[in-house]
Amino acid sequence: MRKITIAIDGYSSTGKSTIAKKLAKSLGYVYVDTGAMYRAVSYYALINDMFRNQELQKDQLIQALDKIRLEFKLNSNTGLPEIYLNGDLVEKQIRTLEVSHVVSEVAAVSEVRHKLVEQQQAMGKNKAIVMDGRDVGTVIFPDAELKLFMTASADVRAHRRYLELTERGDQVTYQAVLENVQKRDLIDTTRSDSPLMKADGAIEIDSTNLSLEETFQRCLKLSNETL
Ligand code: C5P
Repeated sequence: MRKITIAIDGYSSTGKSTIAKKLAKSLGYVYVDTGAMYRAVSYYALINDMFRNQELQKDQLIQALDKIRLEFKLNSNTGLPEIYLNGDLVEKQIRTLEVSHVVSEVAAVSEVRHKLVEQQQAMGKNKAIVMDGRDVGTVIFPDAELKLFMTASADVRAHRRYLELTERGDQVTYQAVLENVQKRDLIDTTRSDSPLMKADGAIEIDSTNLSLEETFQRCLKLSNETL
């Protein structure tokens, strides 16, 4: 069977990562969460005091980029990749609402994108990969054999994200999560460098009225048809 590249892009909290993980598992492919990389850079900026009056000090971040090393390592219990920042596991730290509040601003910095895209392209050079994010089908792998574009209503997405955060014990309100989802959508779709958009040839999947399993089955069918 030929090896392919599966590019999954879409709005925040559309279930992209969950679907991508399940697809990679069932196909025996590598899974890469590009959002985790932008989140890890944002976390680095937060812990290194790169925000003044809530504003990102872009130059400070750009100068520090050479000091930021990101790696994925497989968790031996779950078999899933986890992200390490300069040798430290930061999987949990990058998923907070605090990081979500700043990540789209960090991801709009071209120098950051350039560094991460280079690393992402290297990770996918042998294909047999499922990568999810905002620019996978448009910028990272424009020749991917299968491109999916995930959407769902903002309300449904915020509900899913709210449940995820509260289930792991984070103190957040639904309204704060909804506002964050809408704000990130706006920044991600309007930034000048690699804005989120449906890639040429991408198949749109609207999961507003689909369960996770139904969405997954639809994506798996499309993958099997492409193999
Ligand atoms: O996928 P996730 O919601 O964790 O991504 C967090 C943020 O990282 C997005 O809102 C977006 O600003 C940024 N991102 C990006 N390009 C990617 C992946 C994520 O700009 N390929």
